[in-house]
Amino acid sequence: MISQNQKLGQPQNLPSIGLRPGLEGVPVTQSAICDIDGTKGELRYRGYPIAELAAQSSFLETTYLLIWGDLPNPQELRDFEKEVQMHRRVSFRVRDMMKCFPATGHPMDALQSSAASLGLFYSRRAIDNPKYVYDAVIRLIAKIPTMVAAFQLIRKGQDPIQPRDDLAYSANFLYMLTEREPDPLSARIFDRCLILHAEHSLNASTFSARVTASTLTDPYAVIASAVGTLAGPLHGGANEDVIKMLEEIGSPENAKSYLDNAILTKKKIMGFGHREYRVKDPRATILQGLAEELFARFGKDKMYDVAKALEQEAESRLGKKGIYPNVDFYSGLVYRKLGIPRDLYTPVFAISRVAGWLAHWREQLGANRIFRPSQIYTGEKSRKWKQADERSSTKSN
Ligand code: SDX
Repeated sequence: MISQNQKLGQPQNLPSIGLRPGLEGVPVTQSAICDIDGTKGELRYRGYPIAELAAQSSFLETTYLLIWGDLPNPQELRDFEKEVQMHRRVSFRVRDMMKCFPATGHPMDALQSSAASLGLFYSRRAIDNPKYVYDAVIRLIAKIPTMVAAFQLIRKGQDPIQPRDDLAYSANFLYMLTEREPDPLSARIFDRCLILHAEHSLNASTFSARVTASTLTDPYAVIASAVGTLAGPLHGGANEDVIKMLEEIGSPENAKSYLDNAILTKKKIMGFGHREYRVKDPRATILQGLAEELFARFGKDKMYDVAKALEQEAESRLGKKGIYPNVDFYSGLVYRKLGIPRDLYTPVFAISRVAGWLAHWREQLGANRIFRPSQIYTGEKSRKWKQADERSSTKSN
């Protein structure tokens, strides 16, 4: 299961590539999971275009594709869905632990803690056992939504509600979160959002997952590491900040002055820009369509006009630098219409991205070499010890 392509002995005499902050453009692994063409704005999971998957597939079917490399046949999909459904419940110990979390804590911190705690229930060093790996995949895909929904009810002073076995994956999450069964359109649109967020090659949180996986630690620690990385406002945390920004702008007429000031003060526009894309993120376009579907049925969110006005203003000013809306720009408007609280947008992103992180975890184990990059040292070369009374104030440094 685990193949070590560890080159033992002395470090390799590899040519220096010079400093690359953020590893921009530096390939650090080979992967067959996701392909992005940032110039054309194309995204494929295992070779399938994202637009087709978002239109035709389900999140669990896409999860199966990402993790095992092929679309499941009907029996394989039914078996996978059944396995996930059977493992949705979370131990009372985890629920009781979450009841000790401060209700004011951010749900991403609650998720990172509870995801890591799952490792306490299952033996750690069995990752060379294919059944352990399979069981870990099922447990994490099944339990992460339950834990996100549980913290939402716990922080309101309520007891979490148990998953409903008669509801499909996305409908069950929305039920556990809102305490009412969602209408079919909302459940379907939410499921399509999960497909869109499931995987995106070597983004920061997936890189965290692979680095953590490369030490051969348990998969729960791998996912906890990735959740912590996704939480940052430059990454998955942006979807929450986009809504805050749109509310600050307030009306479409204010979009131009907001952008003028942001450019003047070099303030980043949240939900814009991407390390890979030089055009509009294809996921943003699809999410815009999903938002419009919801607005047609349940009434439009006036923040949508603000978002469109900002996108239009930014087109001429930031487009020439290749800065366009990314996946986080419209996703919050969909979640808001679905009644999901704003500080749960990133945990929802995490529910989806667990699929991609697990796919990369398995792939890393299949051709592992522990990540240990080098550095360019810029500190003091060598200094002589000084007794305490010989030292001047460090404030001068
Ligand atoms: C996600 O990697 C992935 O795949 C991530 C993701 C996924 O699915 O996993 O797609 C999900 O994280 C999407 C990104 C969400 N984050 C945001 O929306 C936050 C705002 N965006 C930026 O912080 C930024 O665009 C990043 C972090 C997304 C990308 O940063 P880079 O590639 O390091 O670009 P940079 O910061 O070096 O900027 C290059 C130039 C700078 O201008 P100059 O100093 O060269 O003149 O572009 C400017 C930046 O100021 N710029 C922006 C901008 N993003 C970049 N200017 C205004 N607004 C922005 N959003």
